[in-house]
Amino acid sequence: MLPGGGAGPSAEAERRQPVEYPPLGGLRRDFIWGVSTSSFQIEGATREDGRGLSVWDTYCQTGRIANHDTGDVACDHYHRYPEDVGLMQRLGVQAYRFSVAWPRVLPQGRGTPNEPGLAFYDSLIDAVLKAGIEPWLCLYHWDMPQALDDLGGWTTRDSVGWFTDYAALVAARYGDRVKRFATFNEPSIFTLFGYGFGGGERATSSADRMHRAIHHVNLSHGAAVDALRARVPGSSIGAIHNYQPCLPSTPADARAADSCDTYWNRAFPDPQCLGAYPQAMQAAMEPHMQAGDLARIQRPVDWFGLNHYSPIFVKADANALLGFAFGDRPADISATPNGWPIMPDAFRDTLLTVAKRFGLPIYMLENGLGGFDKPDESGVVIDNDRIAYLRAYIGAMNAAASAGADIRGYFVWSLLDNFEWDSGYGVRFGLTYVDYPTQRRIPKASFHWYGDLIKAARLR
Ligand code: FCB
Repeated sequence: MLPGGGAGPSAEAERRQPVEYPPLGGLRRDFIWGVSTSSFQIEGATREDGRGLSVWDTYCQTGRIANHDTGDVACDHYHRYPEDVGLMQRLGVQAYRFSVAWPRVLPQGRGTPNEPGLAFYDSLIDAVLKAGIEPWLCLYHWDMPQALDDLGGWTTRDSVGWFTDYAALVAARYGDRVKRFATFNEPSIFTLFGYGFGGGERATSSADRMHRAIHHVNLSHGAAVDALRARVPGSSIGAIHNYQPCLPSTPADARAADSCDTYWNRAFPDPQCLGAYPQAMQAAMEPHMQAGDLARIQRPVDWFGLNHYSPIFVKADANALLGFAFGDRPADISATPNGWPIMPDAFRDTLLTVAKRFGLPIYMLENGLGGFDKPDESGVVIDNDRIAYLRAYIGAMNAAASAGADIRGYFVWSLLDNFEWDSGYGVRFGLTYVDYPTQRRIPKASFHWYGDLIKAARLR
């Protein structure tokens, strides 16, 4: 029986369409299948056991999140992690990507560590390992300690020292059991939205803050790679980048699309993997750089973590900070329920572009569909649209691997429905439905489909 009752997998299996799997023959024999989550989006318990506040706790109080949702309870994973690890085990994943909440282990962001917070991740990691699943730990999924943001956050170069000390603490505490580390998740998203597009400041001051933040996050990445490498024998380290083709909405928007590509796709991977900022942003970065910085940023990594959902359509906007805004998708392109274009061929091309440009093994660390799932009258969640999406995207990944891209793993976003940032709990990406009032977990049809796919892939 499913957690929470309802019809069993076979009843729902009869009703899910399409059931067939994409071709998988191009993937390596040791390919890793996983799921991803992040701390603020699932943990809840934001004021428990000495956790400090993060910038997202503060932001949730501004009234800008849909439905005025907050992360206070989220999926209550802080208390329910054993059940969630049980779900992963049942799914059959080989790897679980999660993030550590910096303010849970260092409530002020620096200084005295919080033992109960550290102990929570001990228990989680032990449970994941006991389930035969490899933990993949991401240091930063957007929840900066508020105490550090108050001191300037990423806009001050002091942030590099703060982050390095935090990375060293995590490495020393968990490095005996965790070998896979990511420094940052999607640095372009939190720097562009946190310091550039938002903020309500004059454009010049936002641009200055944004460029500084970009540089300090890049420096923090390089320093954290060294801190992890020095403390964790056998570690395997990377960063997680979103990389999405920026397509002009009309031919007149081509320059705007280039600007978007520079900041969205290249502001972090280029200096981290190729040792230089994109030409178009060099002048803006210059005032924030010191001699030797590019070498500090370009530290050897073991892989490229890629998050990808869809391309972005871009239009020119003379009033926008970087000259671009988000445009509409052409009418003939279908979209997910939350409005993201479905273009698996663009995913295949992205994988080939990333493989060629950066020459690193790729782990696909996020991909999935955002919808408005609901249990039906018999209590099951039939998310055929998610299954069709995953099937098409995994097929596209297989095509990229067959064409030579070195892809080593694929992680679905997400194990659970969760706090989807500005959309609150309204948009659902989970393979597992979360009934928030009761916290009951209901594996969706896509959960069973993905579990069967993993089994089939591993039997090859
Ligand atoms: C990515 C984020 C992740 C989640 C998905 C839908 O940009 O890394 O936290 O919100 O999008």
